[in-house]
Amino acid sequence: MERRKFLKSSCNICLLAATGYFISELAACSPAAYHIINTEIINDEIQIPVSSFTKSAMQFVRPKGWYYDIAVQKKADNTYEALLMQCTHQDNQLTATGNGYTCSLHGSQFDKNGKVTKGPAENPLKHYSTSVDQQNIIIHIKS
Ligand code: FES
Repeated sequence: MERRKFLKSSCNICLLAATGYFISELAACSPAAYHIINTEIINDEIQIPVSSFTKSAMQFVRPKGWYYDIAVQKKADNTYEALLMQCTHQDNQLTATGNGYTCSLHGSQFDKNGKVTKGPAENPLKHYSTSVDQQNIIIHIKS
């Protein structure tokens, strides 16, 4: 193969590989990269099955008609923590990271408990109290 053809075909292969890589990276960055449980609020409560947490200690709930998701985390003591994924700086929807939440608008970061770890946000995320019955985790919206 002559040198010019070899370089051209090599560059095309590199370009295809890079395109595939960046598309997969973009998909991983989107808020829809995690599974969302769509649900309704009934009597100021959201119920999600306890069985949702068999494979993962973190689930994301999207109440019907709400813009923001709720992150629900199972803790080591078998209680659950529910946090509204609304940045406390200027209300942007947050994105979950491996160990907390980040805001794409101005870079605020929050830990898994909703505490600010990097500004400009100054206030922690909104918490909702939770309780558990035999089959469901109940998120109390008016708490
Ligand atoms: S809206 Fe989140 S950091 Fe500004």
